[in-house]
Amino acid sequence: MGAGVLNAPPAAVAPPEAWPRPAALARRSGALCCEGVPLSAIAEAVGTPAYVYSLGTIRERYATLANAFAGVPHHIHFAVKANSNLSVLRALRALGAGMDIVSGGELHRALEAGCDGGDIVFSGVGKTVAEIEAALRAGVRLLNVESEAELEVVDAVAGRLGVVAPVAFRVNPEVMVDTPHAYIRTGEKGQKFGIPRDDIGRVAQAASRLRHVAVRGVGMHLGSQIANADPMREALPRLLEALATVRGAGHRVEWLDVGGGLSVPYLPGEAPADVSAYAATVRAAVAGAGVTLLLEPGRFLVAESGVLLTTVLYRKQANGKAFVVTDAGMGDLLRPSLYQADHGIVAVEAVDDTVTADVVGPICESGDFLARGRVVPDVSPGGLLAVLTAGAYGYTMASHYNTRPRPAEVLVDGDRHALVAERERPEDLLRLERHPLTWRSA
Ligand code: LLP
Repeated sequence: MGAGVLNAPPAAVAPPEAWPRPAALARRSGALCCEGVPLSAIAEAVGTPAYVYSLGTIRERYATLANAFAGVPHHIHFAVKANSNLSVLRALRALGAGMDIVSGGELHRALEAGCDGGDIVFSGVGKTVAEIEAALRAGVRLLNVESEAELEVVDAVAGRLGVVAPVAFRVNPEVMVDTPHAYIRTGEKGQKFGIPRDDIGRVAQAASRLRHVAVRGVGMHLGSQIANADPMREALPRLLEALATVRGAGHRVEWLDVGGGLSVPYLPGEAPADVSAYAATVRAAVAGAGVTLLLEPGRFLVAESGVLLTTVLYRKQANGKAFVVTDAGMGDLLRPSLYQADHGIVAVEAVDDTVTADVVGPICESGDFLARGRVVPDVSPGGLLAVLTAGAYGYTMASHYNTRPRPAEVLVDGDRHALVAERERPEDLLRLERHPLTWRSA
């Protein structure tokens, strides 16, 4: 990601085909395929914009992570916020994943996807009473609490339901985290997330006085797209310190949640996460701690599986600058606009020529772009582009801005493809609005 808003990052000049993509996205006689399915066939079947996910890639990433932790008691809880399509969740569930959720809506999805409450951990800094109640009724494995005030609300809700709530303390380990954008750091001092490490003892004492909570876990989440092991290496001893403090207050802690954050390569030449080094760091730190590990990966499991398919609508020149106008924009993939994130953009049907252009969407904002000053394939109007590494935080961050329905979603498995979310229609967007109005007197 480039820090500057106006300047294109150095990666912009790399040839389109140099941008990283998984083995499942290969060309056959020039035609870009997702596993055994030409992306053009999917565009033909469902139109554009459309998200396409490779199930094989998700399976492979899951196996890589699970193998790296083989022999250590652990559970992988997929961070639903990264990709919450029910069919993706069902596929991960079938592989053995539990879910990490952050809202009542995600709880609903996880249950619909076939999870039991015990397969779910509930994270998040602002849970409502209704969400806490729904989670307790579902019997979630853990509620990761982030403040003493939240702990008291959980105790009150559990008391009203006549249950004891299993909770984990999310600790803010207060380490420096190097991520491509400040918005995706969470484990630093001064962030809204977690209980400050110095306050853990006090909150653990407070929990001992509450009758309807049982502290069963300690956890943290450092941030997202963390390519280097240093923050984890620095934070783990602090997490174990918190574990000892909580145990010292008399709690029987059995779960240690190390959060998510594993990176994926977005830029040309960017190295993939060193999963075995990550696992070795975590394994070494927790050996002998007498806990079962919880991992909460989101991006790592799904980002590379996905592309956003888009059609070139227009080519234009303005003041010597070239624009490629596509039918996908910031409403479909917000990451470039919000984080100045760079995603590779390749042609679906191979073309030899390239052009340096801003790839922009149809939305009425100058901040609506997929790439700026980028060397992109010279595709004419009507041609298809694939935006790479779009399987995480793509569809889940899509919006209806400009009353634009959200795209279709398609899952590919070998040489089969299935529509897993229909493209919204304008009438879907109006469904909850009321007319004529029922006025009520004050
Ligand atoms: N656990 C917790 C408590 C989290 O807050 C997150 C992500 C994860 C796990 C999963 O992190 P991952 O493994 O995906 O890095 N929208 C941003 C990313 C925000 C991440 C928020 N929390 C983006 O598009 O880059």
